[in-house]
Amino acid sequence: MNTLKTKTIFLLFLFCLTTSLKAADTPVIKIETSNISLIYQVGENGRLYQRYLGQKLNHDSDINFLPKGTEAYLTHGMEDYFEPAIQILHNDGNSSLLLKYVTHSNRQLESGVNETIITLQDDKYPVTVKLYYIAYSKENIIKTYTEISHREKKPVVLSKYASSMLHLNRAKYFLTEFAGDWAHEANITERELDFGKKVIDTKLGSRANMFVSPFFQLAVDRESDENSGEVLVGTIGWTGNFRFTFEVDNKNELRIISGINPYASEYQLASGEVFRTPDFYFTYSFDGRGQASRNFHDWARKHQLKDGDKTRMTLLNNWEATYFNFNEDKLIGLMDEAVKLGVDMFLLDDGWFANKYPRSSDTQGLGDWGETKDKLPNGVGRLVDEAKKKGIKFGIWIEPEMVNPKSELYEKHKDWVIHLPNRDEYYFRNQLVLDLSNPAVQDHVFGVVDKLMTKYPDIAFFKWDCNSPITNIYSPYLKNKQSHLYIEHVRGLYKVLDRVKAKYPNLPMMLCAGGGGRSDYEALKYFTEFWPSDNTDPIERLFIQWGFSQVFPSKALCAHVTTWNRSTSIKFRTDVAMMGKLGFDIKLEDMNENEQQYCRRAVLNYNRLKPVILEGDLYRLVSPYGSNHTSSMYVGKDKQKAVVFAFDIYPRYAEKTLPVRLQGLDKDKKYRVTETNLMPGANSSLPGNDQVYSGEYLMNVGLNIFTGQKLKSRVIEVVAE
Ligand code: DGJ
Repeated sequence: MNTLKTKTIFLLFLFCLTTSLKAADTPVIKIETSNISLIYQVGENGRLYQRYLGQKLNHDSDINFLPKGTEAYLTHGMEDYFEPAIQILHNDGNSSLLLKYVTHSNRQLESGVNETIITLQDDKYPVTVKLYYIAYSKENIIKTYTEISHREKKPVVLSKYASSMLHLNRAKYFLTEFAGDWAHEANITERELDFGKKVIDTKLGSRANMFVSPFFQLAVDRESDENSGEVLVGTIGWTGNFRFTFEVDNKNELRIISGINPYASEYQLASGEVFRTPDFYFTYSFDGRGQASRNFHDWARKHQLKDGDKTRMTLLNNWEATYFNFNEDKLIGLMDEAVKLGVDMFLLDDGWFANKYPRSSDTQGLGDWGETKDKLPNGVGRLVDEAKKKGIKFGIWIEPEMVNPKSELYEKHKDWVIHLPNRDEYYFRNQLVLDLSNPAVQDHVFGVVDKLMTKYPDIAFFKWDCNSPITNIYSPYLKNKQSHLYIEHVRGLYKVLDRVKAKYPNLPMMLCAGGGGRSDYEALKYFTEFWPSDNTDPIERLFIQWGFSQVFPSKALCAHVTTWNRSTSIKFRTDVAMMGKLGFDIKLEDMNENEQQYCRRAVLNYNRLKPVILEGDLYRLVSPYGSNHTSSMYVGKDKQKAVVFAFDIYPRYAEKTLPVRLQGLDKDKKYRVTETNLMPGANSSLPGNDQVYSGEYLMNVGLNIFTGQKLKSRVIEVVAE
């Protein structure tokens, strides 16, 4: 009786509301940053329409002239014949949904950050959809997500549940995606979109970005450019399966639907439960991709990345120096090398744990987090103490979400492992994924960090790895709710990371997934940086870092000097790594005395240049794609200092090189240009080195930073006098 009454009042309310709306006085909802307007309006029929997305419109009187637009968050089962944002199966077997505007609100979350919430409801079923928009005015980023809930008696089934739906109506659309594989991440390809759908998605569950990164660029009217043209850049904050759908319809209008990949993930939503989608973040640049990247970098440093406002530690990692083959003495020897190099930290990688099945290779031991007695008779404690004595920090590798079948954990807790109960197991890197939907597993994973930190409070850093996708897809814990596995697994991970962050708020951590298999902004709330690729060949890194720099700031991109591609000089390798968060993964014996001396100086130089490289504005000057050279520069916010990196990859014989015009400087300032980071004893061959130029000259005429020499690199400081 009571429910019937509520339902009647609710329907009456909606009826009054929808009949009272007239075209001119229906609510207009503006979501704005300093450069972007996203404008919605309620139609006479009470439904919500996106009327505009683009350069900011400052005159409200113009809004009346805008076309009516397309329904904002399209539903399945009504008049639209293309991809919907939401699909829901009601208790009575009906799968249609018609959303009408109920209310909206706006409030300031902090200075320059505004939240708008639009509430929509169906007038036949008690289903509520709330659209959230958080606009970061200065950085020109809009974060959006959706909350879905209902009051039907039994659970409804959600088979589509987008975070965001955006509409564009332009002549042409060009989509850039960032796909690849292990050691080959974030390759850039751009294509024009024609009628129909282009889907970018992942079904890996964990290590979800191994084949494709969770971001895209969408240029309108013409192909995107670094410094001109309109481009929408979007990325999803979900450390699991995601999906971007780009659909061009019969009228050449484009809809962009972003969210969790609903593949094999029908969600039974209980009455009263709120399904909160992940965040989708986007910017709209009117000055090409470069400005879009700078928007994301500024926003990430200020609002999203863990310790976004703090500097980063340089380090020496033992992985490529030793792989699994080390003992206490060897590690302590490497710490001495870290001290010699002058880096801030020594990072102990994989191979330090397990006793019944010692982790002497990747085939065993994962899951057993006690120190291997033969290798480390005095435990990690001795290493932490030695590092302290030597005046450097100590960091440690873990891969807590995984297990080798050859481990004590597996023997004891097979029920904690995602695996098919009635089939043979198959493995990716000889391991299986633990079932994070299970709270007991969450405790175990949190415990890996917590136990280490409790026993060794001086551990200053974690490298958190994740080398396997979810294989053998079945959760012993979820039983008859298997279609929740992909979602609950990621939610479980966030529960663990929340606990880690709450208990150890000042602990920096590197996100790693066999290279760039995890690279999303939700994970980066918990991690200070990520490992873009296991491929540290500097030539490959020029491309990989170029790809990730489209949305991530340099302080989030770990870049290590290793022995990959020995045909490049140590200087070339170091100069490439200095464009990100510098580290070394190499033995000093792999370098001669001159090279070692160079690296020591490079660390000092990096420490001096870090404020500009890590906090400054990135300008990508010459792309490595389709060129024999590449260059990027960072400019300090006050335009007092800049650092230019220039690389000759494989110049052609007698190739003509033109001066490269710098960007982002103050045209009226005078800058001294000096090549730095030279090999000991080497003199600069940079034409016009150590001269003073106006910003105007440097930006209009430029510098001859490239050469005809194969694999040559330059780091150039530009300092206002
Ligand atoms: C994969 C990572 O990407 C490497 O850096 C290293 O940590 C190995 N795992 C260790 O197994």
